[in-house]
Amino acid sequence: MFEIRAAKIKCFKKEFLFIFVNYRVNNLSTIYKMKTTNILLFFAFVFATNIFSQYHIIPEPTTIVYEKSQFLPTKKINIFSKSSSINFEIDYLKNLLSKKGFDVVLNEKQDPKTSQKQLSITIEQLENVQIQNFGYHLNSNNGDFQLTASQSSGLFSGIQTLDQMFPFFNSAEKMTNCDITDTPAFAWRGLMLDVSRHFFTVDEVKQYIDLMAHYKFNVFHWHLTDDHGWRIEIKTLPKLTEIGAWRAERTGKFGTCDPPTAAEPKTYGGFYTQDQIKDVVDFAQKRHITIVPEIDVPGHSMALLAAYPELSTKKEEKFVSCGNKFSDWFGNGKFKMTIENTLNPSNEKVYETLDKIYTEVASLFPGQYIHVGGDEAYHGYWEADKGCQDFMKANKMTDSLELQSYFMKRIEKIVSSKDKKMIGWDEILYGGLADGAAVMSWQGMQGGIEAAKAGHKVVMSPTTYCYLDYVQGDISIEETIYAALSLKKTYDFNPLPEGINPDLVMGGQGNLWTEQVPNLSHLFYMTYPRAIALSECLWSGSKKKDWNWFSKKIDHHFAIFDQQEVEICKAVYDPIVKIYKLNDKMMCELSCETPNTIIYYTMNSTFPNKKSLVYSVPFEIPNTKITLRTITYRDGKPLGRLLHIPKTDLDLRIK
Ligand code: ACM
Repeated sequence: MFEIRAAKIKCFKKEFLFIFVNYRVNNLSTIYKMKTTNILLFFAFVFATNIFSQYHIIPEPTTIVYEKSQFLPTKKINIFSKSSSINFEIDYLKNLLSKKGFDVVLNEKQDPKTSQKQLSITIEQLENVQIQNFGYHLNSNNGDFQLTASQSSGLFSGIQTLDQMFPFFNSAEKMTNCDITDTPAFAWRGLMLDVSRHFFTVDEVKQYIDLMAHYKFNVFHWHLTDDHGWRIEIKTLPKLTEIGAWRAERTGKFGTCDPPTAAEPKTYGGFYTQDQIKDVVDFAQKRHITIVPEIDVPGHSMALLAAYPELSTKKEEKFVSCGNKFSDWFGNGKFKMTIENTLNPSNEKVYETLDKIYTEVASLFPGQYIHVGGDEAYHGYWEADKGCQDFMKANKMTDSLELQSYFMKRIEKIVSSKDKKMIGWDEILYGGLADGAAVMSWQGMQGGIEAAKAGHKVVMSPTTYCYLDYVQGDISIEETIYAALSLKKTYDFNPLPEGINPDLVMGGQGNLWTEQVPNLSHLFYMTYPRAIALSECLWSGSKKKDWNWFSKKIDHHFAIFDQQEVEICKAVYDPIVKIYKLNDKMMCELSCETPNTIIYYTMNSTFPNKKSLVYSVPFEIPNTKITLRTITYRDGKPLGRLLHIPKTDLDLRIK
């Protein structure tokens, strides 16, 4: 737990013998320095008072070395920078600190008279060999902060760290001197937002991107098209947005809504004009976030086909889906679409249309990748279509997987002809992957592993850790959808499986599908705090992760969200209820992902509180008409939400 090293250090022109004690707090490498004579005092101090306040920085920096000294920030802060190329970053920091109640002044040079009395932050872009690309170095010495990086993106990341270190001015909280060196573990730290199932305005998308920046994400994957709406203006194909962007309005669970009729108005939806797209691209670029646009083909194309039905095999008129059921899922990746939502790969007009689309998309997004989807393409209509079958025979294809592979390879040629690289969901592996294509692995990590073994670049985004649409808490209080994904499980994500070349794993990504996300408030509720966990997996990497320390830090982040009135999910505080059978008895196991909680429960129709039963070991649920009520407490106060689950629902949970 302790590693003690000695060193001679020159300080105030005197030479001191220092003992370096590397004291691991919750596996967080924290180094305190002290004079030899103070060593005993130090131990007393660490164990008894714990007055060092560690910063609750997420994602955890690569190295943070604390000094024992603290200081009170002054109201006035001077920011110094000589470089005009980082004006945006500096203004950004000024805004962040102003919001915390500081008076921030930008200066080019330090004035020795004022710099003694006022807090100062010097920001410099330097060729610093010790800090790798995109990283930064930040030193805090009694109100004199020095932030350096070799790239502006590194400075921007350092600014996010600074923001997390600074308290609100009126809190009168002291700051601790420290030295931080920080570099990201992965180059691709992404979040995906589906704006097709529900439309989100430019302003809402910007809010989403801005918060991503705070947690050092650097890729925004914008899922712009799907069965439920086409969201990007394509000037050469105006019907895509005239028709494809609008659907019949419905309220209710996706997949259970009434189908659209020809007569009813199609009023729900929207799209982004090309000027709006450029505005969002610029907004993200300033925050060092690359946008990867997704045009999802050949499946998930109902909105496109509502505008241009001649691009399907049956060429039937259809409508943008409004949450009505049009698919059956049989498990093991088997499914059937009862309305055709797939492009016809044997029709040359499809490729001409997609060329027009990707030409305009490529000109709008400066990033190197375009996401082409490729997921969940139903082959049943291809198999039933004479044109597709003749095409397959003529091209010596033996099954529809080869036809999908042919389609994806054609798309890869289109994308690369625009000087872009193609990335797609792992189904683009079916029948053989196009040269140069990268894979985003969502059906577990296997697709990514296979692609990397074949020499392709991959982004890991498996449902099991990264699907932010999955339910976070107990299904008695949260809407069920497909599967569950808790904060702790998200935190366990490691995008780097063994046995493959790590250089090919660009990183990982959380995905927010929005079938059940109709507004901005719920968007944040579903994304956070799981995205915060992912940020630590992707920036800090496995070696720096520590659940106990993370769950302490998350309390502080919850408080900041509360302060900003952004409602996010605190299911990590709730009890987790597991029901199972043991020798014909129905047993209940309770747990909580947050450490140091006490779980109280009742089955006698009373409200659980500190006087109720304390959970310690699994207990039997009697075979009578009871309701299980349970709640967590910490430090003598209620923490999570109350769960009350009647016996009839407990019966349905038996595993
Ligand atoms: C996906 O979830 N269909 C990529």
